[in-house]
Amino acid sequence: MTKKTIKIAIVGVGNCASSLYQGFAHYKGIKGKNVPGLMFADIGGYRLDDIEVVAAFDVDSRKVGKPIGEAIFAKPNCARTFAKVPKGPTVQMGHVLDGVSSHMQEQPEDEGFRVAKKKPVDIVKVIQDTKADILINYLPVGSQDATEFYAQCAIDAGIMFLNCIPVFIASNPKWEKKFIDAGLALIGDDMRSALGASILSQVLQELAFDRGFEVDFHQQINIGGNTDFNNMMVHSRLASKKESKENVIRAQNEIRGIPVAKNSLFAGPSTYLPYLEDNKVAYFNIRLRGFGDAPVTIDAKLSVQDSENSAGVVVDAIRYLKVAKELGVVGALRGPSAWTQKTPPVQMMYADAKAECQSLAKRKANGTILSQIKK
Ligand SMILES: NC(=O)c1ccc[n+]([C@@H]2O[C@H](COP(=O)([O-])OP(=O)(O)OC[C@H]3O[C@@H](n4cnc5c(N)ncnc54)[C@H](O)[C@@H]3O)[C@@H](O)[C@H]2O)c1
Repeated sequence: MTKKTIKIAIVGVGNCASSLYQGFAHYKGIKGKNVPGLMFADIGGYRLDDIEVVAAFDVDSRKVGKPIGEAIFAKPNCARTFAKVPKGPTVQMGHVLDGVSSHMQEQPEDEGFRVAKKKPVDIVKVIQDTKADILINYLPVGSQDATEFYAQCAIDAGIMFLNCIPVFIASNPKWEKKFIDAGLALIGDDMRSALGASILSQVLQELAFDRGFEVDFHQQINIGGNTDFNNMMVHSRLASKKESKENVIRAQNEIRGIPVAKNSLFAGPSTYLPYLEDNKVAYFNIRLRGFGDAPVTIDAKLSVQDSENSAGVVVDAIRYLKVAKELGVVGALRGPSAWTQKTPPVQMMYADAKAECQSLAKRKANGTILSQIKK
């Protein structure tokens, strides 16, 4: 086993990057089998401390040119501050493409994006110079062209890709093939937070089916006050997020061959309330029928810190990628994508996705479920 640092490069120094970077400082040096806030302390011999941020790219004038340790606290970021962080690498000018909508440029200074008037750097060269292992995509929802551009940069630079947003790369066979041809692994698409609305919707849907119920209606309404929610106020940018969120619930029907009736499912971001900042609130209404058609209704409310909720999952996904690479596994990692993302190439039941991840964490990639292409 060749254990060394896992070097990561980050695209998009927004709220999620802020929580992730703070997490590295917050947990630095922590020992033990269980780390509160993390699902797994050790994955294949790698701990959180083994991850190092070596490069970061953004396009906002308040972030580009600053060390990442300062840029994460620049507006419009609003994620909670929970750690004192080192300065880290300087945020470099990325390629804007469709990353910034006109809506976000028209927003008030502390809620919108302000594009820097700087020349973009050569992303592939920076990745190669810094010897990054993984490129993490944290672009705003709706960044189709920009995501494809950075995914291609990862391929050209010969590194793995972790796609945390709902632009379909790992789940798109055409893109997966490009990574396979390059001998690279990837995880995606669209992060599934540790205890967020998606995993809660999924397990409630699974619980209903496992206990013999029919699900007549499943609603998951999300409200938040961070930049991600602001960006999704433009209907055309929101479409892929809604599709990705509904995929999580729909998949549990499809795995079991249960049809999804028309108008029986809604999951998506519903409005932007700046007062909430990084606090996301999700409202669930699930209507079931059980024995003798007896009705059961579940009404629930979930309130989380959106960005912190996603960071631990990314810490895990980074380590799954590194272990997969050492085992010679290429393509979109089935189990880890199903466990950490809303729209993986193959949706799984909770228990199956977890079992695959545990198997990879023990460096066993040749099980029956973990059917993955080897180099
Ligand atoms: N729990 C969660 O927060 C969660 C869960 C699942 C998915 N996601 C997704 O993760 C992504 C990141 O979320 P966030 O809250 O950090 O968003 P954010 O809006 O806070 O950050 C996005 C960053 O990308 C930068 N950017 C825009 N265009 C760019 C370009 N072309 N090149 C480089 N940088 C560019 C922006 O300046 C900003 O700093 C979003 O797509 C979001 O939907 C978040």
